[in-house]
Amino acid sequence: MTAQPIPVIIDCDTGVDDALALLFAVRHPGIDLRAVTCVAGNTDVDGVVRNTLTVLERAGAGDVPVARGAERPLIEAARSARHVHGTDGMGDLGLPAPARRPVDVDAVTLLRREILASPRPVTLVPTAPLTNIALLLRTHPEVTRNIERIVFMGGAVATGNATPVAEFNVWHDPEAAAILLTAGVPITMYGLDVFQRVVVPGADVRRLRASTEPGARLAGDLLAHRPAAPDPDGDDPDGGLGDAGAVCAVADPAGLTTRHLPVEVSLAPGATRGQTVVDRRPRPGEAEIHGAGRERAMVDVALDVDVARYVQLYLETIAA
Ligand code: BDR
Ligand code: CA
Repeated sequence: MTAQPIPVIIDCDTGVDDALALLFAVRHPGIDLRAVTCVAGNTDVDGVVRNTLTVLERAGAGDVPVARGAERPLIEAARSARHVHGTDGMGDLGLPAPARRPVDVDAVTLLRREILASPRPVTLVPTAPLTNIALLLRTHPEVTRNIERIVFMGGAVATGNATPVAEFNVWHDPEAAAILLTAGVPITMYGLDVFQRVVVPGADVRRLRASTEPGARLAGDLLAHRPAAPDPDGDDPDGGLGDAGAVCAVADPAGLTTRHLPVEVSLAPGATRGQTVVDRRPRPGEAEIHGAGRERAMVDVALDVDVARYVQLYLETIAA
């Protein structure tokens, strides 16, 4: 018997690699993409909505509902990543404006509606700052009864990009990330440690770019905008899957090695703000022994990834 597709909602800040994630989710037969919600992050929220609609149309999924969400984090100002994602947030590929408009309800309302309406519990996949998700959990906590799990791209065990120790999505809205971690549903953290490793070889990127099929060609153009490292020959750069790896982890969890570990988001101003503090100690330390331990959420933290498996999965799915 074939397994039923997993109902999935993606909350994103499209975003070159969010676009790669959307293309994969639309094309993977094991995923039923029920809605997409948008939040400020890589670019402003209106740009995110436009980019998301364009990608879904290009992927042949013009009927998936898209909603506009928060235009800034809970406390701080929005700080885009346009230097990475281009002035339009989509690699300045010159893509056409979408023909469609977002639904006429906000992201939190659409999230609540789609989660509660789903005949089977939904897997929520945030690939962006967690502002919409925090607002959802605080406004409509009853949604957790129909959430199977949350697989989010964010945080890191041992590295950073926005700062030496903080990953962009968590750093952009640390308070929202802290709320996410206490959602009370199973959470998988697909952090930078694995995110940065899943890279498509340059020859495959070139092949996708030469495709006559619009979705595959878009995937190639997006990957070419995400060089993993400078290409010694200058013409065939590898391309990082980025956020798309988190959706691969939903479709094929066996490719990801996780450990159930305590995680806390650093909310203090200063050098560690936005860091995900992951506790890998084998035994309690002096803090716990002397009663000064802290309450922390338990999270399935991604520690390793089968890179070849996810690259193959991505390429086969996009080509299908
Ligand atoms: C995350 O930040 C964004 O730039 C990417 O889309 C990804 O979600 C990586 O830190
Ligand atoms: Ca993103």
